[in-house]
Amino acid sequence: MLSVVALISGSGSNLRALLEAANNPLNGFKIIAVGADNPADGLAHAELFGVPTFVVTPGAFENREKWAEVLYDNVMHFNPDLVVLAGFMKILPASFVGALSPNLINTHPSLLPAFPGAHAVRDALAAGAKVTGVTIHVVDEGVDTGPHIAQREVEVLSDDNEYDLHERIKTVERELLVDTVKKIAAKTITLA
Ligand code: GRF
Repeated sequence: MLSVVALISGSGSNLRALLEAANNPLNGFKIIAVGADNPADGLAHAELFGVPTFVVTPGAFENREKWAEVLYDNVMHFNPDLVVLAGFMKILPASFVGALSPNLINTHPSLLPAFPGAHAVRDALAAGAKVTGVTIHVVDEGVDTGPHIAQREVEVLSDDNEYDLHERIKTVERELLVDTVKKIAAKTITLA
């Protein structure tokens, strides 16, 4: 059984999909803890599923390195096989990434390498993209630059606004994230 720690920053709908899927032992993975960089709403999903949570806020530390060290210690307390950034909106320093990669994956709401960064959906709309989507990738030291594991397209509709498009992307994203973690558990995807 693949053990997973998920890190989140927001509403946690991707986390919720992982928690629900993990309830079926046939899916081959379990969520053993959930961490956040703020008291995120999404932590409530973990609590509902009886999964331990931790919050490590950058503001409480002198610098990013010190914050990431404590975040890393909290993650490693659970000794996971895989860490999933499921809507985690902070950039992690090279020390954190280097210690976990390739067993550190991220989900991003665009077809990378198009539209990296925190405003992927807004940027896709501003660029007039007709198709965008979701990418699951191994985290490396860059911002949304690591090797791709899975991608799925989502059509941009002519009357889309950022919220509507992101919600449609997230429907696809939740499915793709669960499917990817299942395949990592089943070793049909090997991380490298
Ligand atoms: C997802 O689209 C994720 O890729 C992005 O932020 C969103 C998080 O959604 N970085 P949720 O918190 O899982 O609902």
